[in-house]
Amino acid sequence: MCGIIGIIGKSPVGPLLLDGLKRLEYRGYDSAGVATLVGTGIDRRRAEGKLKNLAAVMEKKPIEGTTGIGHTRWATHGRPNETNAHPHMTPQVAVVHNGIIENFRDLRRALEGDGQSFETETDTEVIAHLLSQGLKAGLDPVAATAETLHRLEGAFSLAIIFSGQHDLMIGARRGSPLAVGYGDGEMFLGSDALALAPLTDRICYLEEGDWAILSGNGAEVRDAQGSVVERPVKRTAVSGALIGKGGYRHFMQKEIFEQPAVIGDTLTSYVDPLKRRVALPEVSCDLGNLPRLTISACGTAYIAGLVAKYWLEQIARQPVEIDVASELRYREAPLPEGGAALFISQSGETIDTLAALRYAKAEGQHILSVVNVPESIIARESNAVLPTLAGPEIGVASTKAFTTQLVVLACLTLAIGRAKGSLTANREAALSEALLEVPQRAAEVLAMDAQFIGIAQELAEARDVLYMARGSLYPLALEGALKLKEISYIHAEGYAAGELKHGPIALIDDLVPVVVCAPSGPLLTKTLSNVEEVVARGGRVILLSDAEGLAQASDGVAHRIELPKVDPFVAPILYALPVQLLAYHTAVAKGTDVDQPRNLAKSVTVE
Ligand code: F6R
Repeated sequence: MCGIIGIIGKSPVGPLLLDGLKRLEYRGYDSAGVATLVGTGIDRRRAEGKLKNLAAVMEKKPIEGTTGIGHTRWATHGRPNETNAHPHMTPQVAVVHNGIIENFRDLRRALEGDGQSFETETDTEVIAHLLSQGLKAGLDPVAATAETLHRLEGAFSLAIIFSGQHDLMIGARRGSPLAVGYGDGEMFLGSDALALAPLTDRICYLEEGDWAILSGNGAEVRDAQGSVVERPVKRTAVSGALIGKGGYRHFMQKEIFEQPAVIGDTLTSYVDPLKRRVALPEVSCDLGNLPRLTISACGTAYIAGLVAKYWLEQIARQPVEIDVASELRYREAPLPEGGAALFISQSGETIDTLAALRYAKAEGQHILSVVNVPESIIARESNAVLPTLAGPEIGVASTKAFTTQLVVLACLTLAIGRAKGSLTANREAALSEALLEVPQRAAEVLAMDAQFIGIAQELAEARDVLYMARGSLYPLALEGALKLKEISYIHAEGYAAGELKHGPIALIDDLVPVVVCAPSGPLLTKTLSNVEEVVARGGRVILLSDAEGLAQASDGVAHRIELPKVDPFVAPILYALPVQLLAYHTAVAKGTDVDQPRNLAKSVTVE
């Protein structure tokens, strides 16, 4: 969602704010803006659209001031134009906000009743007016903030500056993330450690309901009740250097190519290569006796969960239920006593996933999570965390987070299988070995990159593309379609191959490419029969398989891509790479904005 940065510095902060916003742009790119304290007043620059527009404005008209806040917006309330761009301000205060103020209509009506006029359509503007109202009534900035926070409902994080108060900034966190950064005589606020990486590595993650009063020399943190609390300041491993494109054209391309390394890193912390057995971090529930495991997540993370359902049921014989998080939380599903619930999230801050987690907790479930950001709220609210070691993922379309989630879920499957006694030591060793081979096989797929470019040129001409597969590869059909539509804007759908004849086959003609994931294994013959059905209707099949599968495929297949042969268990991990590359090259061929596709944002902190 939106990205927030705040700096109390020793020199002009305009360029630093802009630089911080660059690292936050993945969170939203509908508009951007900064505000700084200058003399006794507040100065501001804003621009609609991408950050480069704000940079151009600031180049023409640089901004002064050593204390300032910045924002990059993913629009929720109000169109993405300059008027609605943050910071929002009055002569007394400027505020940037990530999240939603759910009672803003009531607050706005009350303020309008008091004669206050509004400039924007945003929910944020009420915060600026409430703060001003408090200040005008004689409250000091801290008391005015306490009073305002008390009146706000919803999930949000805020950074606020006050005119004339050059050594003061207030940050608040409820539902949306916010970190305080400690410098040398300088202090920072940021939506995440990435934003602050080149400025400081000393970070304090605010807890739910906390607010922080910053001066250049430190911060006082208060909890939701207003009591002063101690929060640990940690050294973060996120480094500014990690955040470049490293010679690649796009972050997404870099992240696709990082997969052999990050899959390897993740495997190293879960699989003992000598014993050929998995070792999970401490999980404080009895994995061998779960009546049910409820899995929930959003988007690509949900698709990873769907693969896990196949694995857990087939290999570990563990009953699983899975639901997208935005449905689980409202479905009021009864969850069994003694059960566990597993939440999967790259960012660890997706609000739907967090809300589903809290629902499951209230239903008495033991909470496990697979997250890429260990300090995130989802991690902190879990009983046990299984981290992915993907490193920062900046491209909005998830790639390396997905494959590392699959690796962790595969290891969880083996651990549950062992605990339940459904997996022999030999079988666990064989499957662990198959997992350990994945980085090498993934590198082999990436070496085939050029093959995907030609096919992508064809896909780029299509209006609709179908993906199909069976079994544990079926979720990869969903993932291929999701990746293609989000970055190339081509309509795409993923189907279980056996389901095609129950309706979607009516769509097939020679203008509709059909991408098929069909590794050799128990379901190959059945999937190839479905390929025949498509070919017989003139469909242009792009078949992803291994040598054995391709040898059995119909002559009418338009494109054959030979992937390395792997154990069927790990095929869903490996087949993620070709579907990512197809989507990536199609988007490049169409000339879309690969890393920042329209209407999307990297972490979705609103419902
Ligand atoms: C798709 C994509 C999204 C995310 C989803 C969940 O490429 O990135 O579908 O997977 O928004 O995000 P996290 O994993 O951060 O909870």
